[in-house]
Amino acid sequence: MLWRGSADRSPGAARGVGGWVLGVDICQAKLESARMTARGVPADFTMAGAECLPLTSSTFGKCCISLGMHHLAEPLRRDALREVLRVLMPGGSLFVIDYNLPIEMPARLAAMALIKMDSSAEARAMLCQHSLVDEVQKAGFQISRREFFCCGTMQLIEASKLT
Ligand SMILES: C[S@@+](CC[C@H](N)C(=O)[O-])C[C@H]1O[C@@H](n2cnc3c(N)ncnc32)[C@H](O)[C@@H]1O
Repeated sequence: MLWRGSADRSPGAARGVGGWVLGVDICQAKLESARMTARGVPADFTMAGAECLPLTSSTFGKCCISLGMHHLAEPLRRDALREVLRVLMPGGSLFVIDYNLPIEMPARLAAMALIKMDSSAEARAMLCQHSLVDEVQKAGFQISRREFFCCGTMQLIEASKLT
């Protein structure tokens, strides 16, 4: 989800302040369901791969990738992050929410179960290597926050585009 408006406003503030949200997914059914959820919010939806966004450079203030990165193999994750960096304005923020694999039991077992449910090799590789935060940094973002929640089975990474 990409938010166009000043970089210091949240997507939730889109209602009534002249901002605009763009939802991107490769699945038409997911876009339809998001369209229903976003009723009343100034939002559009487009079917596209995150690794090749049909969008103009430096136009969005914020981007949120929610539970999407673990669906992509490493080269596609790299391309997706490069694309987000391109479409964000300088000073814009990226929020990535995805699974995490904690070290401690029993949270580790819970995370393993979540990954098994997802059953993709991409999810397993990314989580077992704990690589997501490094990948965001290597793409050119500055990490400003990393938080774990749901007993460490989920992570939030906040990062910004400096120039
Ligand atoms: C677990 S769902 C999360 C959906 C939503 N973002 C949320 O947080 O509820 C993962 C989504 O990633 C989408 N997806 C998978 N590969 C993608 C890609 N290359 N580009 C964009 N979206 C992709 C899937 O179609 C699916 O809707």
